[in-house]
Amino acid sequence: MNHAVERKFEYDPFSPPVMSNPLPFYEILRRDHPVYYNEKYDGFFFSRFDDIVELLSIADNGLMELEGSLPTPATLRVRNSAAPAIPPDDPFPLAQRLGMPTYGEVRRAHVKPIMPRDVKKLGDFIRNRANDRLDELLPKRRFNLTRDYGGFMSSGVIMHLMGMPLELAEQSLDIINSGTRTDPETGGFDSGAVAKQAIEYYQPYVQARFDAGADGSVPMVDGMINYRYNGRDLTPTQVAQQLVCAFIGGIETVPKIVAHGLLELSKRPGQLEAVRADLDANIPSATEEMIRYCAPAQWFMRTAQKPVTIAGQPIAPGQRVFALVASALRDEREFENPNEFHWDRKIHRTLAFGQGVHFCIGAHLARLEIRILVDVFLRRAQSFSFDMDNAIRPMSSFQWGWNSLPIVIGEAH
Ligand code: HEM
Repeated sequence: MNHAVERKFEYDPFSPPVMSNPLPFYEILRRDHPVYYNEKYDGFFFSRFDDIVELLSIADNGLMELEGSLPTPATLRVRNSAAPAIPPDDPFPLAQRLGMPTYGEVRRAHVKPIMPRDVKKLGDFIRNRANDRLDELLPKRRFNLTRDYGGFMSSGVIMHLMGMPLELAEQSLDIINSGTRTDPETGGFDSGAVAKQAIEYYQPYVQARFDAGADGSVPMVDGMINYRYNGRDLTPTQVAQQLVCAFIGGIETVPKIVAHGLLELSKRPGQLEAVRADLDANIPSATEEMIRYCAPAQWFMRTAQKPVTIAGQPIAPGQRVFALVASALRDEREFENPNEFHWDRKIHRTLAFGQGVHFCIGAHLARLEIRILVDVFLRRAQSFSFDMDNAIRPMSSFQWGWNSLPIVIGEAH
């Protein structure tokens, strides 16, 4: 336990000590302040697994994303005297803002290629591309495992799903990474600004699908183009807007988990050897533990639209609630020795992908990618180590993960 943190306990997700290492703060929150109220943001922070399950299970638009799920401190410092207004549906806004059932329809319109039945079809594409990538990287003997391997790969998959040229994978990755940088002056990052930049970047490819007739051959984009809201077509800009979470979510998280997961295995040679003993059988459980232990997303916010109660705490319309999912994944009530990494831990349920109406649409794709990327890497690299003196885990209020993990390859083929 970090005693400096404990002496006078305050929690603000944007304070530099929290952004540098939130884990000791979560431990105290879970133990002493499971419902923590932050006056400045008029918000309640929930840190225990069961309480977050309760929070994310609230239906009927009781909690909504009308202020976004990753707002800036500037947004949060403005107090709501009532529930924020739901925007008009013409012009069609970001569907999250309209809530259910419209948001459910929009999710279903573009999610098909990454649902369990279809996502499997991406397996060969991912495996072949991972092998090609390692053909380039392994002879270099040293590279940034996060960006050069996982980042290149996850971005390529999104290019494929959005009908974009694969050559744009690295540029797309740079756009997303620029957004995960934290501004120490303002705290946090501006997710709205990143989203705007990303949409401008890929919108020409959405337009190209409109021009080509959206015949279903790029199902993620075409599905969205063919969606009608109350009989009305969406414009290319409106279609592009709805795809932004998939674009960002699909590129950002997997690389940090793959690189960090391999780092944890390399720190425990016994575990690495045990996983290698039967990769086919062991990669699925190693993947689940990597997701639990290494998932970089820290929290998501909702604003109360109606009076709700969570963990016995009444919340009034306009107040904010924060689900500290990264804390839930280390809750000692749910996981034995949660701060230990065990590749074969029995994980009965997870909150790594959220739950309820905003459950991650990419969960099946993420699992597939992580399994393949770890598998291919371990088959090709017989020995490797990390140059931790040059590793970078920048402070962040949201995506707290290893942006740069230099790996040094020993034996490989
Ligand atoms: C291991 C990797 C990933 C993790 C840990 C992860 C985690 C999450 C979490 C926790 C949420 C819920 C956010 C909330 O409740 O506000 C979420 C939502 C989302 N994720 Fe992921 N994600 C991952 C990969 C992906 C991938 C590969 C994609 C797309 C291809 C994706 C697309 C999305 C989208 C579109 C949402 C928004 C869903 C909504 O608001 O209804 N994610 N993700």
